[in-house]
Amino acid sequence: MAHLDHIGIAVDDAAAVVERFRALLGIAPYKTEAVRGQQVRTHFLDAGSAKLELLEALADDSPVRRFLDRHGEGLHHVAFEVDDLPATMKRLRDAGFELLSETPQAGADDKQIAFVHPKQTHGVLTEFCESSEPDWSPRTVPRHDGHLSVFERGTRDRPSLLVLHGAAGTTRHDAAPLIRRLESSFHVVGVDLSGHGASALPADAANAPLSLDLFAEDARAVLDALELPSAHVVGFSLGGGAALRLAHMHPGRVGRLAVLQTNAHWTASHARRMQARLDLDGLAARAPGRAERLRARHDAPDRLVRALRKFVTTLPDASDTLVQTLPDLDAPTLVAGLDQDPLFGRASARSLHDALPNARLAVLPGDTHSLSRAPTDLLAPLLTNHFLGA
Ligand code: CO
Repeated sequence: MAHLDHIGIAVDDAAAVVERFRALLGIAPYKTEAVRGQQVRTHFLDAGSAKLELLEALADDSPVRRFLDRHGEGLHHVAFEVDDLPATMKRLRDAGFELLSETPQAGADDKQIAFVHPKQTHGVLTEFCESSEPDWSPRTVPRHDGHLSVFERGTRDRPSLLVLHGAAGTTRHDAAPLIRRLESSFHVVGVDLSGHGASALPADAANAPLSLDLFAEDARAVLDALELPSAHVVGFSLGGGAALRLAHMHPGRVGRLAVLQTNAHWTASHARRMQARLDLDGLAARAPGRAERLRARHDAPDRLVRALRKFVTTLPDASDTLVQTLPDLDAPTLVAGLDQDPLFGRASARSLHDALPNARLAVLPGDTHSLSRAPTDLLAPLLTNHFLGA
């Protein structure tokens, strides 16, 4: 169902409007983005149930400039997010609505957008939007013989929150939906772990194989490079394991923790199931689209998958070490699982929760093991409360 995503307000003097909203509501923009196609600069404010999008014209012939010349500052459009924008556009056309573009256009906030003509909506320009994969550009942090890719979102005056994706995931493709829900409240730092995306694998993978400790050291290297004494950390699956190791190895560097769909008690059968998922050739036959995406998202997909398959076989032993340290981890930790996670369900979440001295447990409805398809509507407020809680 379409839901109100944001309200667009055309402004002449963005700095003055920002000051006014600070005085009015105590909120300030958490991001500013130019959209070249629309010749507009946007400033996003989080107003709780929806966002405000301040729109500043970047050129004299931009649509927002024409709007300002005609109407002055004020309400420009309301925007509703939908799951399938092309299908929504077809439905609207079939219902007789006139759209301002034939196809979805690139908007701000990683959205594809389309407008309905305001003459058919009682004078209120109406936008429909759908989130798309972001083209965030990384900063790089030296690591191994190369670097890690790191994506910073939100503003640095907010609490820092490291986001660690799962095995064979990346920040931009897997963690982005969650990050978009957190970037108004946190200085979010998404880390592409060693070997993932464009991040370097250890050159000598035989002597420095992948391990939870190595991924935890990735996170510490990022904290060092960004000069962050400490940060909250949220990790999904493998990223959750790395977060727990980081909290054990460098307790002073971690504030609060959240581990999502993470298994700490690995058995040989868990390892076999995970290995089966990490098989590019098998995947190409079974789910060609997924195999194709894996190849596109990582610089060295074959080396990464080989290294991960080896890594998974070490997990039953490595998890013994991990589990021994859990009773000493006193960072407040939110353990969240999905009741029908096909890999690690309720039992994994509960046993991890029970092993930690200072943990809260959330079991949410869901049946995937995929950060990009996690129930972010439910997770985001839980995480925000957990990390910002007293
Ligand atoms: Co908009």
